[in-house]
Amino acid sequence: MATLSNHCSGLAKQFILMFLGAVFVLNHVRAADPDPLQDFCIADINASNSIPTNGYLCKARSLVTADDFTFTGLREKGDTVVTGTNATITYALVQQYPGVNTQGISHVRLDFEPGGVIPPHTHPLASETIFVVEGSVFTGFVSHDNKLFTKTLHKGDVFLFPRATLHFQLCVGNVSAITFNSFNAQFPGLLMAANQLFVTNMNHDVLAKSFGSNEAVMNAVNASIPRFWG
Ligand SMILES: *[C@@H]1O[C@H](CO)[C@@H](O)[C@H](O)[C@H]1NC(C)=O
Ligand SMILES: *[C@@H]1O[C@H](CO)[C@@H](O)[C@H](O)[C@H]1NC(C)=O
Ligand SMILES: *[C@@H]1O[C@H](CO)[C@@H](O)[C@H](O)[C@H]1NC(C)=O
Ligand SMILES: *[C@@H]1O[C@H](CO)[C@@H](O)[C@H](O)[C@H]1NC(C)=O
Repeated sequence: MATLSNHCSGLAKQFILMFLGAVFVLNHVRAADPDPLQDFCIADINASNSIPTNGYLCKARSLVTADDFTFTGLREKGDTVVTGTNATITYALVQQYPGVNTQGISHVRLDFEPGGVIPPHTHPLASETIFVVEGSVFTGFVSHDNKLFTKTLHKGDVFLFPRATLHFQLCVGNVSAITFNSFNAQFPGLLMAANQLFVTNMNHDVLAKSFGSNEAVMNAVNASIPRFWG
């Protein structure tokens, strides 16, 4: 912790993590969501046997109303703060928005303080677009031949993250940013690169040798990275 903290700003640490993630993440490419067999199938999220093996069970059609196709939860910033990154994710995936069940679509809203970051991550199940509602966002992804594509986006701009590519978002400029992102899956999957390596408690000997580093540095990274689960 001391080594990194003394020599790097928080932002520099994030960039180091981006680099580490880019080097080490394995991408899993799978098929997109399958086509629906009915016009809609509002998820019955609470059905006792509703295990989401390939979508949820459908709510009884006689009980479906216009509200089932409506989601109002993106009006305001939600409360899923990505600890330590000054970014907040508000989900409109199938679990929050049962109407998208079987439709191959879902959304998130991202809110960033100035300098806030969504660290490098992949969505194994979906391509994603980002639409900047407010502010400016530096973003990019790594293609499957390990090429980095980056762009600074401004209000009104849209950018594509191809399915299963490692990508990130960083709020640039001195104002906060809001983005509205869409996925071509009802649940895109979320694999945070740094978490896959460190929050899973992967053996530090393996990590140190893999990075050509040492355990003290691995301990420092492990002690300081934002934790998204666990
Ligand atoms: C599922 O159950 C929870 C807890 O009882 C409730 O808050 C939620 O509204 C229910 N969701 C649906 C779609 O019925
Ligand atoms: C988050 O915001 C606080 C307060 O402005 C700042 O000290 C910190 O460095 C920021 N963290 C990141 C990752 O931008
Ligand atoms: C933000 O940046 C703009 C453009 O550089 C500048 O005009 C403005 O004064 C800055 N605002 C703050 C609060 O620093
Ligand atoms: C990484 O940090 C966590 C939380 O501080 C700790 O519980 C865990 O033991 C550390 N992992 C290793 C391999 O040292």
